[in-house]
Amino acid sequence: VRTRVGIVGAGPAGLLLSQLLHLQGIESVVVERRDRPYVEQRVRAGVLEAGTAQTLREAGVGARMDAEGLPHEGTELRFNGQSHRIDFQELTGRSVLVYGQQEVVKDLIAARLADGADLRFEASDVEVHDIETARPSVTFMHDDNPLRLDCDFVVGADGFHGICRNLVSGLRVAERKYSYSWLGILAEAPPSSDELIYCRHPRGFALHSMRSKTISRMYLQVPADERLDDWSDERIWAELHTRLATDDDSFTLTEGPLLDKGITPMRSFVSTPMQAGRLFLAGDAAHIVPPTGAKGMNLAIADVRLLARAFAAFYTDKRTDLLDEYTTTAALRIWRATHFSWWMTTMLHVDAAGTEFDDQLALSQLEYVAGSRAMATSLAENYTGLPYQAGWSYK
Ligand code: APR
Ligand code: PHB
Repeated sequence: VRTRVGIVGAGPAGLLLSQLLHLQGIESVVVERRDRPYVEQRVRAGVLEAGTAQTLREAGVGARMDAEGLPHEGTELRFNGQSHRIDFQELTGRSVLVYGQQEVVKDLIAARLADGADLRFEASDVEVHDIETARPSVTFMHDDNPLRLDCDFVVGADGFHGICRNLVSGLRVAERKYSYSWLGILAEAPPSSDELIYCRHPRGFALHSMRSKTISRMYLQVPADERLDDWSDERIWAELHTRLATDDDSFTLTEGPLLDKGITPMRSFVSTPMQAGRLFLAGDAAHIVPPTGAKGMNLAIADVRLLARAFAAFYTDKRTDLLDEYTTTAALRIWRATHFSWWMTTMLHVDAAGTEFDDQLALSQLEYVAGSRAMATSLAENYTGLPYQAGWSYK
């Protein structure tokens, strides 16, 4: 099979890239290890920055998102039993949209298939070859047949556990581990608040989020090596009640049957360069942030925006400058989001190995954000997403 861009991985990064290339008349094939139901049902984060939502609209996949997504004009920080609202709209003029990542994935798959795209699910033994030449290829097994995809370029959008990152010679990794994970639940229960609640409690962090008017999504900080089996539904609810409680008892958590339950590890990880010859990395394949701040999918989408534009410049004007600058340009936003996610994480979590000093610094930072318009604005502009066209040259 011959194509222009071979894309490994059908997560938000790979699928959106395929869609953006298609809109510019550039053909691609997406090769995915899992089956379609698996990628469509995988529960992940669900906050879209204003620019991410706009990118999806421009890509022609915004209709259901705009109909079903929940606009959020602010969020709540809760600590010492008190609530503090950060008003995104007032502070930055921007909002976020709460819409599950797997819904974005479903919309993208539907749009690609409607346009007759070549998406190969359940591909096994995926390998990438000859990236240092002008004819890289991807080989894989599909329906028991060996296939070879001859490409101009290959994009590794194959997530953190993918194969592409390891093909980059001279890879440099900057990494930070955390001593905790998130235990996440999806519950058939109307959200207990209109907005997300990021809560620091002496027993650990808790997050109240949602997917719709009838589905809540909640998380609890647990030790990194925690076993899911040790958390009965009753224990999870009891812990959420304890951590999210306010001193004035104004908050009531609504319970409901659990639809999903899992533990997500936390790490910060940035690998560069994001290019080796004709192989480019995008999304989780190149970088991971802890979920506090919900930057993962937003960063993946920002990467492929850059790549789509760079490929378009290559095919229309034979320009290679945008492709050559890809790592440098992408890294600006990646490091901003990496810092923001680390900052939110360390401010809101309790480090079991930490000291009284660490606790007091985190609480002081929270007090500062809650009390200072300057700090609140900083949180709000990072959370709603730094613009694509700004003095920052995020391009
Ligand atoms: N061959 C083919 N496909 C692969 C391979 C492989 N060897 N390895 C992994 N994949 C697939 C995975 O099955 C997955 O569907 O690549 C896809 C990568 O998708 P994501 O993990 O969703 O990564 P990305 O598209 O970069 O999106 C980033 O995902 O992890 C979340 O929070 C993160 O929201 C962020 C988003
Ligand atoms: C989610 O709803 O899954 C979610 C929301 C905000 C976060 C992380 C996850 O920071």
